[in-house]
Amino acid sequence: MHFETLSTYEKLSERAADFVAAQILLNPRSVLGLPTGDTPLGTYRQLAARHKAGKLDFSQITTFNLDEYLGLAPNHPQSYRYFMETNLFSKVNLPAQSTHVPGGIGEGDEMAAQYDRLLQAAGGITLQLLGIGHNGHIGFNEPGAIFTAPTHAVTLTPETIAANARFFQTENEVPRRAVTMGMRPILQAKKIVLIAAGEDKLNILQRALTGPITPEVPASLLQLHPDCTTLYTPEKPV
Ligand code: PGA
Repeated sequence: MHFETLSTYEKLSERAADFVAAQILLNPRSVLGLPTGDTPLGTYRQLAARHKAGKLDFSQITTFNLDEYLGLAPNHPQSYRYFMETNLFSKVNLPAQSTHVPGGIGEGDEMAAQYDRLLQAAGGITLQLLGIGHNGHIGFNEPGAIFTAPTHAVTLTPETIAANARFFQTENEVPRRAVTMGMRPILQAKKIVLIAAGEDKLNILQRALTGPITPEVPASLLQLHPDCTTLYTPEKPV
């Protein structure tokens, strides 16, 4: 496990974008695993800027997002598909059919199994970019997650619903169910870059990266991954 502390959110975002850009240059047909949330916004801005400057070509890249709410249409402003379209997909030359976001409207378990089949057919994730929740969740793999789980439907914890309520008018509007890539497909990624911004993430990072490996802290499983880099800055995303 490699750990780097960056002095600012901007520097963290540049560094994370460096990992993604290097991966794309090394293998233009890479499969990227992507997160939503506040933390990757700067990384996505960097990637869009590098593409605009003619330095990064996404035309052969495939992407798989970590998770999505169940019950939100792709064009719902709080859906993760909408987030990805707005913050990255519309700003780079990724073919629409090469971008995958699970969930949406439909039966969760069926969509989850289909998602894993697509991911396997693509050869699995080459580089997985990850955020981390205050409770140690990865994607929507909440405390108690089964380490070997494939992509599956989940019921969100009250803590995650409360944390995500800031994006909705009221907490009641936050969907209670989601589809998440399971720990297994995440851990099968060849390379993982975990990004965390803000001093409020330091405590869970320390527990995840140096504490016991336990389902109570899903991110603790990253300690077993052979190629995982963590980038941390005390500065909150801006
Ligand atoms: P954040 O979310 O980037 O908005 O902090 C991370 C997460 O909950 O996985």
